[in-house]
Amino acid sequence: MALVTTKEMFAKAYDGGYAIGAFNVNNMEIVQGITEAASELRSPVILQVSKGARAYANHTYLVKLVEAAITENPDLPVALHLDHGDSFELCKSCIDGGFTSVMIDMSSKPFEENIEVTRQVVEYAHAHGVVVEAELGTLEGVEDEVVVEAGQASYTRPEEVEEFVSRTGCDSLAIAIGTSHGAYKFRPEQCTRNEDGILVPPPLRFDVLEEVTKRLPGFPIVLHGSSSVPQEFVEMVNAYGGNMPNAIGIPEDQLRQAAKSAVCKINIDSDIRLAMTANIRKYLAEHPDHFDPRQYLKPARQAVKDMVARKIVNVLGSDGKF
Ligand code: G3H
Ligand code: 13P
Ligand code: ZN
Repeated sequence: MALVTTKEMFAKAYDGGYAIGAFNVNNMEIVQGITEAASELRSPVILQVSKGARAYANHTYLVKLVEAAITENPDLPVALHLDHGDSFELCKSCIDGGFTSVMIDMSSKPFEENIEVTRQVVEYAHAHGVVVEAELGTLEGVEDEVVVEAGQASYTRPEEVEEFVSRTGCDSLAIAIGTSHGAYKFRPEQCTRNEDGILVPPPLRFDVLEEVTKRLPGFPIVLHGSSSVPQEFVEMVNAYGGNMPNAIGIPEDQLRQAAKSAVCKINIDSDIRLAMTANIRKYLAEHPDHFDPRQYLKPARQAVKDMVARKIVNVLGSDGKF
């Protein structure tokens, strides 16, 4: 199968009460781990590339790695998506370079400017058979090179979404309901503690999601910043020489609830990074004499595969959908 857009994936996910995982790819082991898990579980998948990933690995290498994964997994529906495109030119370069979906993220800009740039990208993308994700509202944390300081984030304003979607013509909309990027999504003072002293983050704003859904019936919604930062991996990092104090994510059960709603795409990057790093640290600590990268990248790739399988089954509900 050639690369597909997200159009059919989202229509089925919306009606079926599940979401498609969008996983960030930066190298061969990540592409292999994700696509092996998705293929075995028969889950459609979105592979997304950030501006930083392109700067690290080079556009052509990433596209060729994704093409290789499709050759190896011929039945697997795969969309290749630009994550957090920050200009028309970057989106155009990915559209011209074989991507089937792009995000234009002008969420930190004023409403009218967000509309204007998004509209331009939509016009170019649609003329080339490519779909567009846009964003309203800002998440805390790092969105590629844009750092949003704690307290500066703002939830999506439901009263803006209809005008935004109708004036831009975008195909899906990322909204801010309390998720954020990275492995430190909340400061301890934003959380409560359970009886075991474990940090419990504030719940997602399902009321905002519901209000947006009412105003955009049938329209696919996207959640960024949706890693759960599983504590067993944080503990593993810390046990083998790392230092990730108070790392915390979005509880998986809340994301599962979101996946059953209008949320059709859930973005996960940090959990893959965490799983790889934890396993590489463990491997190297246990084998101090090993120096062949294949030896430690093999468990790292397996960790990516296991993490993606866990997301497909526990969070997305996208297994068995093709
Ligand atoms: O939202 C950001 C993604 O996790 C990509 O991160 O810009 O470091 O590649 P990156
Ligand atoms: P996480 O940092 O929570 O994995 O979010 C990734 C993301 O939103 C990529 O766009
Ligand atoms: Zn994001």
